[in-house]
Amino acid sequence: MLELELTELEQETLVATEQQSGDLQSVKGAASKPASLRRFLSSTLNRFLNRFGYAFVRLDGERQPTMFSWEGGRPYAYEHILVPDTFSPWAIDDTFLALWEKVRNHTLADLYRCYELRELVREVAHIPGDILEVGVWRGGTGVLLAAAAAQWKPGSSVWLCDTFEGVVKAGPHDPSYSGGEHSDTSRAIVEGLMSRMGLDNVTVVVGTFPDESGGAVECNAISLCHIDVDVYQSAADIVGWALPRMERGAIMVFDDYGFSTCKGITRLVDELRDSGDWQYIYNLNKHAILIRR
Ligand SMILES: C[S@@+](CC[C@H](N)C(=O)[O-])C[C@H]1O[C@@H](n2cnc3c(N)ncnc32)[C@H](O)[C@@H]1O
Repeated sequence: MLELELTELEQETLVATEQQSGDLQSVKGAASKPASLRRFLSSTLNRFLNRFGYAFVRLDGERQPTMFSWEGGRPYAYEHILVPDTFSPWAIDDTFLALWEKVRNHTLADLYRCYELRELVREVAHIPGDILEVGVWRGGTGVLLAAAAAQWKPGSSVWLCDTFEGVVKAGPHDPSYSGGEHSDTSRAIVEGLMSRMGLDNVTVVVGTFPDESGGAVECNAISLCHIDVDVYQSAADIVGWALPRMERGAIMVFDDYGFSTCKGITRLVDELRDSGDWQYIYNLNKHAILIRR
């Protein structure tokens, strides 16, 4: 049940700010009660609030109740995460904010992940190679990457690959998926967004990647690879294709890392981390960033 709450919360975490002071007081008032009772009350309240996209959280960095899970021989823990910080460079980045307004209705990623993706393009500006995104859906993150490449990596190409028929290769590591999710899109939707933004550095590639469409991605070097395909085997096959094309310093970024419905992605990233080929960063925002050693 708690796992369901986390899922709903992760989809749209919106702190009930209008109730903050009252909530904090009630939490502080409960501090003397046994921890188990407090957890029960907080969990019950959250179950209700999460239905409406709200959450009941403490704003003082105190840890939230933990749910433990055992997946594929590894222990995992889940808590509501609230990063009590204020530094917000995007707020004075007019170029980013203008881009965000154009893509926000075309993406499932939030502002923080979109900002980070754009900044990663700047980080790989000196690394030879193109940019690859697999898992494009309606084009939001892909077009954002392309706009950043036009600005910071002129001459590079951006390859946007999708089945446009939804998620494929869901398997035993992906209990929340059966295949076909996110099929509510089309190549025309992505190309429409590209042309409205005046981008000419993008190629849209249709088909299961890499099995059907790897051959259409004509590049020998990848400097940044954004993998947003939700399930284990799909992501593993993309890594297998991209890895030999990535040199030291190239970056692979996985969406959905730690997302409670995308356990296959979490598992894969942890396996890659163990391989020793990558430096690993968990950025507390559903992204895992792997930097090629
Ligand atoms: C979560 S959506 C991508 C979201 C997108 N990046 C955004 O900005 O919101 C996942 C996408 O991955 C695609 N997909 C999954 N596995 C794939 C594969 N092996 N090859 C191509 N596309 C794949 C699905 O069709 C779906 O559109």
